[in-house]
Amino acid sequence: MKPMRFSDDELKNYILQESADFNDYLFKEADTIRQYYYGRDVYIRGLIEFTNYCKNNCFYCGIRRDNTCVERYRLMPEDIMACCEEGYGLGFRTFVLQGGEDPYYTDDVICRVVSGIKDKYPDCAVTLSIGEKSYESYLEYYRAGADRYLLRHETADGAHYSRLHPAEMSLENRKKSLFNLKEIGYQVGSGFMVGSPYQTTENLIQDIRFLQELEPDMIGIGPYISHENTPFKGKENGTLAQTLKLIAILRCMFPYALIPATTSLGTIDPRGRELGLKAGANVVMPNLSPVGVRELYSLYDNKICTGDEAAQCRVCLEKRVESVGYKIVTARGDVKRFSEGDKK
Ligand code: 5AD
Ligand code: FES
Repeated sequence: MKPMRFSDDELKNYILQESADFNDYLFKEADTIRQYYYGRDVYIRGLIEFTNYCKNNCFYCGIRRDNTCVERYRLMPEDIMACCEEGYGLGFRTFVLQGGEDPYYTDDVICRVVSGIKDKYPDCAVTLSIGEKSYESYLEYYRAGADRYLLRHETADGAHYSRLHPAEMSLENRKKSLFNLKEIGYQVGSGFMVGSPYQTTENLIQDIRFLQELEPDMIGIGPYISHENTPFKGKENGTLAQTLKLIAILRCMFPYALIPATTSLGTIDPRGRELGLKAGANVVMPNLSPVGVRELYSLYDNKICTGDEAAQCRVCLEKRVESVGYKIVTARGDVKRFSEGDKK
């Protein structure tokens, strides 16, 4: 099955098309492609949000440096190991270490944590999601055993990028980081927010074109949700419908990709993640962080899975996934980029 190719005009049409018939058709098409590659399997990733300190000041993000209302926390290496231990018992074979860009965690500390996890759980994949670092740092983490790296590009349009980020950040640097990660050998994930402030349909098409250039293994997208202690307070949120549409388009164009039904999708709508799976997503990333700190990792308002019920995310998600006819599998869930005879 070849990746579908769409012209800019086609993409624009699809993105703007609101008819329910068309959307159903698109979701079915996406689901057929997903099932051809991945069957009804849904991969789980244990997400460990290990620090909410961040030296960056992205305008949309709740843990930005200038937000003085957040109580900051850091998990120590032994806390992170404890999360993995619990996660391993629950069937997780991928751990995603995500955090703000926090200089407290030097390259040595990150490498020690990564190699500690890989030594204890050699059958597991370790994914890092800790922002922009130098080529040398990325290389060190890779040598310590990190398998994958998530770094959303956020928007592929330079002007839009500078409306979402302060001047010290650049799209150029972000793109460079992504290509460095690929060159080193990581399985790379990128992606963007749907409905972020000032985003146009053209921007979304640029995002898709950038992804075609990068050829990432994972593509994470979710609706933008405004956070009250950011400069974007009160800005309109992205929608469920737009996000589902883009998931389906991405599945058609990137048949092999690992695409999560994200927490933000579950936040914007109680059935968002289930609908995301039906539109072509094939990954869920339940939270493995200690329940006591989950509320503090608030990138946006009303984030789900932060209360007491959230100790049970694994079970909760299992039921949700089954409710739409898929099944969670305990496997590392590496990308199936080239299935039999499917070379591009
Ligand atoms: N709404 C939705 N997603 C957000 N992210 C950050 N802030 C928000 C927000 N307000 C996303 C970014 C980042 C990922 C970890 O979370 O895309 O890369
Ligand atoms: Fe976290 Fe349902 S997935 S409580």
